[in-house]
Amino acid sequence: INEKKQIIKNIINLKKEKNAIILAHNYQPREIQEIADFIGDSLELCIIAEKTDADIIVFCGVDFMAETAKILNPAKKVLLPEIMDTECPMAHQLPPEIIIEAKKENPDAKVVIYVNTLASAKALADATCTSANADKVVNLFDEKTILFGPDNNLAYFVEKRSDKTIIPIPKGGHCYVHKMYTLEDVKKVKAEYPNSELLIHPESSPEVQDVADHIMSTGGMVKHVLNSPVDTFIIGTECDMISRLNIELEKVGKSKKLVPLRADAICNPMKHITLEKIETCLINEKYEVNLDEEIIKKAKVAIDKMLSLNK
Ligand code: 13P
Ligand code: SF4
Repeated sequence: INEKKQIIKNIINLKKEKNAIILAHNYQPREIQEIADFIGDSLELCIIAEKTDADIIVFCGVDFMAETAKILNPAKKVLLPEIMDTECPMAHQLPPEIIIEAKKENPDAKVVIYVNTLASAKALADATCTSANADKVVNLFDEKTILFGPDNNLAYFVEKRSDKTIIPIPKGGHCYVHKMYTLEDVKKVKAEYPNSELLIHPESSPEVQDVADHIMSTGGMVKHVLNSPVDTFIIGTECDMISRLNIELEKVGKSKKLVPLRADAICNPMKHITLEKIETCLINEKYEVNLDEEIIKKAKVAIDKMLSLNK
């Protein structure tokens, strides 16, 4: 325990000395969330990355999130404390070739892609979106047809909330964590907690979305749980979301029953970052995210289109 305390002290000192900030996604383990300057969903972290005047951004999350921070801050040092196995598998399901091919087949369509994509894919998109703003981003365009990827379940969510024709690319794009949820899971947990509300992330399958009380991004869940009079929630997203919710509830002196829809809904790529690795990362300034300048320029146009919604 003392050793851990010392590491945390060192991290705080290194941050000051190097004018660094630590950003952590809601799926990071609790002890990482606790030392972060900002915790958030992928949209909230994009907005913070755009506004920060820190010289170094230490990103506790997966590859595409750190890449997004770099695209928004090309002159700053963006560091990932670990690069082994910290890739979001879904982000790798939409390589640039698939977008080029789909554009050839649908020349009049606009391309809106999830931030859960590689920088090289973003460079080919008209706009990016997150689960917090996907329906609004699609409606920024006059065109009727939208090529949308890689998550087919988020595509379903968007199609239900807009009058656009949504063409999902690639077929079968998914998140392996949210894809696990079934109606059986819902039935089982609802039977145990009949007075609960079911909150579902839009990366979950259509049939699970259709029985949810609310479908929301992870940031949306924070706001909802804090402000709702309900005291029991079934959380249909990655398990450490419950850590984030508990941190926020504790801050305001509240306590609610938070039940995971499945206890094995764990995003492994999110779990390779440790306090020790953050300390080493700040000492050695590794691993730095480096992207091609041309890709940064093009991908930034797509991200800026999304961020224009918040201005
Ligand atoms: P949020 O945008 O809700 O944080 O989701 C990101 C993500 O990767 C979900 O799996
Ligand atoms: Fe990627 Fe799914 Fe993990 Fe989100 S939960 S980072 S989409 S693998």
